Amino acid sequence: MKNDIEQIVQSAFGLSVEAIISRPDANFGDYATNIALQLAKSVGQNSRQIAEQIADGLRQTGNYSDVAIAGPGFINVRLSSSRLAAQLIENWSDNYGSSADGAGKTVVVDYPSPNMAKPYSVGHLRPGNQGWAARRLMEETGWRVISDNHLGDYGAPLGIWITGFEMFSDRDRLEANGVYELGRVYIEMKQALKDEKESGGNELADRVQDWLLRYERGDEEALAYSRRFNEISLAHIHHVMDRLGISTDYEMGESQFAESGKLAVNELVEQGVAVRNDDGSVIVPLDGFDVPLLILKSNGAALYATTDLATILYREQNWQPDRVIYAVGAEQQFYFAQLFAMAKKMGLTTEMIHLWFGVIEQRNPDGTREKMSSRKGVVLMEELLDQAEARARRLVGDRPVLEEDIKKIALGAIKFSDFTADRRTNILFDWDSIFALSGFSGPYVQYAAVRVNKILNENGNGTAQLEDYDYQAEKNVLLKLIDYPAVVAGAAAELEPHRIASYLFELAQTMNRYYESTPIATGGVSDVEKQARLNILSRVSHVFGHGLSILGIEIPSSM
Ligand code: ARG
Repeated sequence: MKNDIEQIVQSAFGLSVEAIISRPDANFGDYATNIALQLAKSVGQNSRQIAEQIADGLRQTGNYSDVAIAGPGFINVRLSSSRLAAQLIENWSDNYGSSADGAGKTVVVDYPSPNMAKPYSVGHLRPGNQGWAARRLMEETGWRVISDNHLGDYGAPLGIWITGFEMFSDRDRLEANGVYELGRVYIEMKQALKDEKESGGNELADRVQDWLLRYERGDEEALAYSRRFNEISLAHIHHVMDRLGISTDYEMGESQFAESGKLAVNELVEQGVAVRNDDGSVIVPLDGFDVPLLILKSNGAALYATTDLATILYREQNWQPDRVIYAVGAEQQFYFAQLFAMAKKMGLTTEMIHLWFGVIEQRNPDGTREKMSSRKGVVLMEELLDQAEARARRLVGDRPVLEEDIKKIALGAIKFSDFTADRRTNILFDWDSIFALSGFSGPYVQYAAVRVNKILNENGNGTAQLEDYDYQAEKNVLLKLIDYPAVVAGAAAELEPHRIASYLFELAQTMNRYYESTPIATGGVSDVEKQARLNILSRVSHVFGHGLSILGIEIPSSM
């Protein structure tokens, strides 16, 4: 249709345009365009007249079963089912939905990048989900993707851990509770520091600083603590990432970039990009910002920005990316705007994207919403996953479902909810809707996929019967399947994975309506019909698998 229209416009008006095709309400047609309205000005005719000429041209191609004009010049067309089937089969490939749009380009994706001081909490659920989806979108559109888990492993936490450990803990408790003991110690110590500060003291704060200095000097005891605590914390992070089904190619924490960061700061000062203040701190004044970016503390210590500066340089030197994506929450928007402005000032042209998102909220008993938390403070990721698995178990009841499938349902529910709205909005975490088998949920879509797969497992994938069958009953399914590659391309271009979730939900709805009216392999279905229908279903199965895998969601074998 796009080609047809562009050719007609070229020969009728001598203009080369890009025709935009949309999918109107099914009552009006299968596809629509408002090209006539767009052309009115440049052609100098009224849009209705233009639409009539284009519609005539479309009718003459014989490609459409119906061409109609609505209102001031909207053109709506319908296609025959067999024509749609032919189109789908022509577009089809083993990796239908993927493209090579990004071929030859490299992107670094930075996720989930949790902090080591405390156990993995829901605070890093969205960085993981959104980062993973961004990675998958780039992969499916042909980019070379390098994923990097930029661990928050530098700075005060070590000093707080050691001081806190010596005051409030011991080897046995650490042995027994691992990272949760470290988290407890960290929180208790933070409180102690706060109390001390309020009462004007500084003894504990000095001890924390002292441990950090000892660590920097290479003191054996400090290094041993750091090794032990990091080992515990890292093992935990890997365990949780494993449960979440996410991984990265690299894992380079902030601490690896502290020293190179300080050197880079000196260079920026020499180049005149940064300015050293009288107190020794270093700032980068930035056009368009009231506040400069602080890249070195007055005592010479590295900051988050110092390590990010060195990280940027490291990635440039080693990977030469065309683009870097940071999957980090909305609260760091200002920071990344400054960081990217600094990179630009340094002469870097790499496209840098802060893939930000809103927070996860919960509903209070009084109906108001607030950032998700528990009585104990943050919600721990492992507790959330345990609860989700318990819910998934309840959902399947006494049907015999494999333990690994229960886990897929639990994760599917949690992850899908992350994609039920534009990532920039806050999402409401509500157990009932996350697991609603009849709503916009992961389990709903997974169930639809399981159902298709079950039919295919029992009856085979169907042999194509294009000539012998008219695909009338399949029309809506075909339309939906034909939409898919453009949905992936759009989601990738805008880094909006929720478009995939919405699409999959609609595909699931389309399938459920289809089954209501159409028997596949039972009740008076001829073999031709059966094979043709199975053939379409095998393509639906591919699209469910492809789309869900972009969202990091697996399809259970049964549920
Ligand atoms: N650890 C940081 C946090 O949780 C996120 C790090 C993101 N990546 C980066 N290169 N700054 O807030």
